[in-house]
Order: sequence, then structure tokens, then C-alpha cells
Amino acid sequence: MLTPEQVEACLRELLRAPDDIRAAPSLARLEELRIEHLGRKGALSTLLRGLKDLPLAERKRLGPEANGLKERIETALAERRKALEGAEFGREIESVRLDLSLPGAPFPRGRRHPLSLVMDEMAEILLGLGFSWAEGPHVESDRYNFWALNFPPEHPAMDAHDTFYMKARGERPLLLRTHTSPVQIRVLESQRPPAPVRIIAPGRVFRHENADASHSAVFHQVEGLYVDRGVTMADLKGTLRLFLEALFGPGTRMRLRPSFFPFTEPSAQVDILCTICRGSGCPVCKKLGWLEVLGSGMVHPKVLQDAGYDPEVWSGYAWGLGVERIAMLKGQVRDIRLFYQNDIRFLEQWG
Ligand code: DAH
Repeated sequence: MLTPEQVEACLRELLRAPDDIRAAPSLARLEELRIEHLGRKGALSTLLRGLKDLPLAERKRLGPEANGLKERIETALAERRKALEGAEFGREIESVRLDLSLPGAPFPRGRRHPLSLVMDEMAEILLGLGFSWAEGPHVESDRYNFWALNFPPEHPAMDAHDTFYMKARGERPLLLRTHTSPVQIRVLESQRPPAPVRIIAPGRVFRHENADASHSAVFHQVEGLYVDRGVTMADLKGTLRLFLEALFGPGTRMRLRPSFFPFTEPSAQVDILCTICRGSGCPVCKKLGWLEVLGSGMVHPKVLQDAGYDPEVWSGYAWGLGVERIAMLKGQVRDIRLFYQNDIRFLEQWG
């Protein structure tokens, strides 16, 4: 039988319960409180179980009171559950919220390297004129790089100061090609019987040089070669005029100056009127009014002969140009090293 003190204790506990419930921090804690207050071992069950032994008057007083308290507790539980579930849902929503009005994450786009852009621009012009694309190896034999191109044995270009050799001199040396001209020989030799060739050979070349504003040990050239029956210097000039006008803009003036290369005879250095000062003289053209853009000439009869082309039947022209130099002129770049440093501020200004 419950003592009056026990009854009081149960009632106090049940009165306090709704406040505890409203303060429950989580659904898990709420469930604990539910069991504590409404479970079989809780104050309410104890009270109701003990009721039947109490005098009638007490039962009549305590019965409705216990039920009233039970209702208040159940209401508090339901309300708190709703609130906690709502908050949890809110947190979940918050964690997956997608705000479509936010600015997008930056997605920087790559772009082609300026040397690739300029090389492709040249290739596009020349492929349009009927040339096809040819390539040769970077590691080349001394025969293709020098001898087949009619270099005399004492030519300074073969000096180790200019050429990267792969093996000690004495055996048949392999080297890093110093120009794209060896591709001329490879293409001519690949034609059996001899047939007309009209190719460009763009690619990387190597020279043993200290880097400065206008020199780099690795750079790029575009070689051109046309061999056929009856090719003349006028063909060379006409082709280069079309090429340079397409590259530097309509009305670009050019001139041919006598020059020398072992593999061409005659040889010509090709200049364009300075694109900056239009001939009046400025720092870019070093007050000359003209800018050197490429070397060219008529293929030397000895080169044709060695490659299996009868120079009495065949003739041809060739040229070689430095891609960096052309890119520097087109983009008014003062230092060749900018092409290799990959400074995004420089690269972004192209294309
Ligand atoms: N190979 C020469 C060099 O690297 C450039 C050159 C000049 C190529 C005249 C040619 C040419 O095909 O005809 O300096």
C-alpha cells in the first residue's frame, strides 16, 4: 500500500515531467523520458497500481488527477517529438540545400600554347597551298642532319658548341637535329622512283646555346620543300609572298636578299617590311626597316643528286623558319623565354 508520502512523491514527479520533456535535447532523450514517466516502472504506473488499495475518497481524488497528469505528459511528449523531428528535418534540408542563385564555381579552361597556335596557322595556310605534313625524328644521324645537306666537313655548325651529340664523335654519331632540313632528305629518299614532293616539316630543333632574350636551346622550325620538274625561283617567291601575306596580313611587303646555305644555291634571306614602324626604323627592326623572317633557296643540285633525284630533270625550292621568331613578331614578344615559362598571364593573351 502506498503511503501518503509515496503518493505525493509520484505526483510531484509527474507534475515536473512536462518541463523535463520540453527541455529534451534529442529524440533519443525524449524516448528515455517517455519510458521513465509512462513506462511500467514509472511514477504513473506506480500510482495507478497503488490506487486500488486506497480509500474510496482518495481514489476519487487521485484517479482523475493521475489521468490529467498522464494527458499533460502525453501532450508534452507529442509536442516535443514534433518539434524535434521538425528541427532534424530542417538540419537535413540545410545540409543538402542547393542554392541555384549562387555564382558557379570557377572552371578555368585550358587553351592551346601560342607556339602551337602559330605553327598551326602556318600549317593551315601551307596545307591550303597543296603542301602536306611531314615529320622526322628528333634524334638524327649526322648524315641526315649534315652530310646529305652538303655541309662541308669543317662546317662550324657541326662543332659540339652548336650541336648536342648523343654519342662520342668518332663512331657514327647520333645527335639532336639542329634544324628541320634533314626531313627534306628523308622525304626525297622515300620516293622511289623519284616523284614530285611538296611538304612542310614543322617540329622541334635543338642547339647547344645559352638561353637569352632571343636564344633558346630548344626551339621550333617549319621547313618547306617543293621538288618537281621545272620549279624556279619565281615559284619560291610567289609561294612565300602568298604565305607571308596570309600570315602577317594583306599588303605585307617582302624582299629577298642574297644569302648562303650549304643545301641551297642560290640562297636567299627573306625579310618583311617592319610590322611596327613600316620601314621608317624602330628598335624592333633595329632601325633597319626590315625584319628577317626566314631562310630559303633553290635546292642544291648536289643535294638532289645524293637523294636520288637527277638535277637535270628535277629542281626545287626550300625554306626554313623559326616559329618562335615569327610568334614574337606577330605578338610583339620581347623575350623568347616567355614561351617556355608557362606564365598564365602571358599564355592567356593568345588565341
Ligand atoms: N636549316 C636552316 C637553319 O636552320 C634554315 C633553312 C635555310 C632551311 C634555307 C632551308 C633553306 O630549307 O632553304 O638555319
